[in-house]
Amino acid sequence: MDGKMKQQKNLTGTLLFAVFTAVLASLQFGYGIGVINAPQKIIENHYTRVLLEGSANETDTKSVQPSVKMYWSLSVSVFSLGGMVSSFFVGWIADKLGRIKAMMAVNSLAVIGAILMGLAPLGQAHALVIAGRLITGLYCGLASGLVPMYVGEISPTALRGALGTLHQLAIVTGILISQVVGLEFILGSETLWPVLLGLSGVPAIVQTILLFFCPESPRFLLIKLGKMEAAKRNLIRLRGDYDPTKDIEEMKKEKEEVESEKKVSIIQLFKSSNYRQPLIVSLVLHISQQFSGINGIFYYSTSIFTRAGISQPVYATIGVGAVNTVFTVVSVFLIEKAGRRSLYLVGLAGMGICAIVMTIALALLTQHAWMSYLSMVAIFLFVVFFEVGPGPIPWFIVAELFSQGPRPAAMAVSGCCNWTCNFIIGMCFEYIADACGPYVFIIFAVLLFIFTIFTYFKVPETKGKSFDEIAAEFRKKKLASRKGLKSTEMEYLGTSSEA
Ligand code: GLC
Repeated sequence: MDGKMKQQKNLTGTLLFAVFTAVLASLQFGYGIGVINAPQKIIENHYTRVLLEGSANETDTKSVQPSVKMYWSLSVSVFSLGGMVSSFFVGWIADKLGRIKAMMAVNSLAVIGAILMGLAPLGQAHALVIAGRLITGLYCGLASGLVPMYVGEISPTALRGALGTLHQLAIVTGILISQVVGLEFILGSETLWPVLLGLSGVPAIVQTILLFFCPESPRFLLIKLGKMEAAKRNLIRLRGDYDPTKDIEEMKKEKEEVESEKKVSIIQLFKSSNYRQPLIVSLVLHISQQFSGINGIFYYSTSIFTRAGISQPVYATIGVGAVNTVFTVVSVFLIEKAGRRSLYLVGLAGMGICAIVMTIALALLTQHAWMSYLSMVAIFLFVVFFEVGPGPIPWFIVAELFSQGPRPAAMAVSGCCNWTCNFIIGMCFEYIADACGPYVFIIFAVLLFIFTIFTYFKVPETKGKSFDEIAAEFRKKKLASRKGLKSTEMEYLGTSSEA
C-alpha cells in the first residue's frame, strides 16, 4: 500500500502544467462572480446617462431609476442564468470533442463575452453588458464542469482531492483579484470599468494557447475512444517514468463495465437504481454548497458589513476574499489527510455555528456596539469553514462518485443544480434579508444542520479509493439496504471492496 501511494503521488511537471492550464478557466469563473460587486454605482450611473439620452427630459434621472435597477439586476443575474443553461451540455461537449478540445472551443464564448463588455460604452451599455455577462455565464457553466472532469481524470488517486481543490483555489483567487482590481483607484473607475469587465477574456486566450501542450485525458482516450497506445503514452507523460500496466488494467475493467452498461444519458441517470445513491449524494452536496448561504456573503458582503456597522465595508469585503483564498490553500493540504467526508462535516457544522453567532450579534447590535466586531469575526469564520470542505469538495467529488460512463451526465446535472441554486440565492437573498432583518442567517443555520445530518449518514469517504472501489462501495450499500443490513455489518461479513 505504501509503495503504491508513493508511486501514485508522482507529481510531475506535465501534470502540474496541465492542471494549472485547466484551472485558468476556474479563475475566470471566480472573476465573473466577484467583478460585478464593487463598480455597481459607477456602472449604474453610466446606464442612467445612456437611458436619459433617449428620454424627453434629459435631466430627470428619477424617471429612469426603475429601468436602471432592473438592468442592473439583470447584469448581475444573467451570469448564473447562462451557467444554468450551459452546464447541462457539459457531458455532451466533453464526449463529443474530448476534454482538451472542448475547453479550447468554449473559450471562444469567454472571448466574445469579454469583447461585448469591454466595448459596452460604444453602444447601448446596458444591453452590451447584459449580453456579455450572459455569454460569460454560458462559458463558466461549461468550464465549471469541464475543469473538474479533466483534473479528476488525469490525477493519480492519491492526489485527486488535492488537485481537485485547485479548481476551487482558482475560483477564489479569481474572486479576490476581481475585488482588488475593482477598487475605484485601480480599474473600478468611471473610465476604466469596461476594461475591468473585459479583462476576463485574457486568461481564455492564454489557456487556449497552453492547452495545445496538455495531454488529453488517458481515461477518455481509452474508455471512450478505445485508443490504448495513446492512453499509455499520455499516462507516462503525466506520471513520469513508471509502469502504467496497473492503471491501464483498471481502465480496461471500467471500459468493459461501461460497454455492458451502454451510454448513460441524463434520463437514464435518473432512472437507473444503480446511480440513485451517488446521484442523490452529488445533488445534495451541490445544493448544500449553495444553500449554505455563502454567496449571500460574496454578492452582498459590502451591504452586510454596512448593516453590521463596519466603517470600511469595501476593505472588509477584500478581507473576506483574502481569508477565503488562504483557507482554500489550507484545504489543498488537508484534503488528502483528513478525507472528504470529515472535512465536509466539520465545514458544515462550523458554518452552522457561525450563522447562529452572526444572528445573535446582528440582533444585539443596537444594545452593544461591540457586537459589530463579533459579527465580523463570525462572517470571517463562516467563510473559513466553507473553504475547509463545502467550497471545494462538491466540485470534484462528483467525478469521483461516478465511473466513466455516467460521469459526464452526472457532472452536467450536478453543475446545473449548483448554478440554479446559485441563481436563486443571487435573486432572493436581498429580499429575504430585507424581510428577516438580522435573522436572515437563521434560515441558513437550519439548512446547514439538515445538510450536516445528511452528510453524516449518506456521504461515503472517497479518499485514496479508485473509481472502481468507490462504485463497489455504492453497490455494497445498495445491497445492504436491500437486505436490511447496515454497511458496517456488511464489512463485518467481509464484503468490503478492499477485501
Ligand atoms: C464555490 C461556489 C461559488 C462560490 C465560491 C466562493 O466555488 O461554487 O458559488 O462563490 O465557492 O468561494
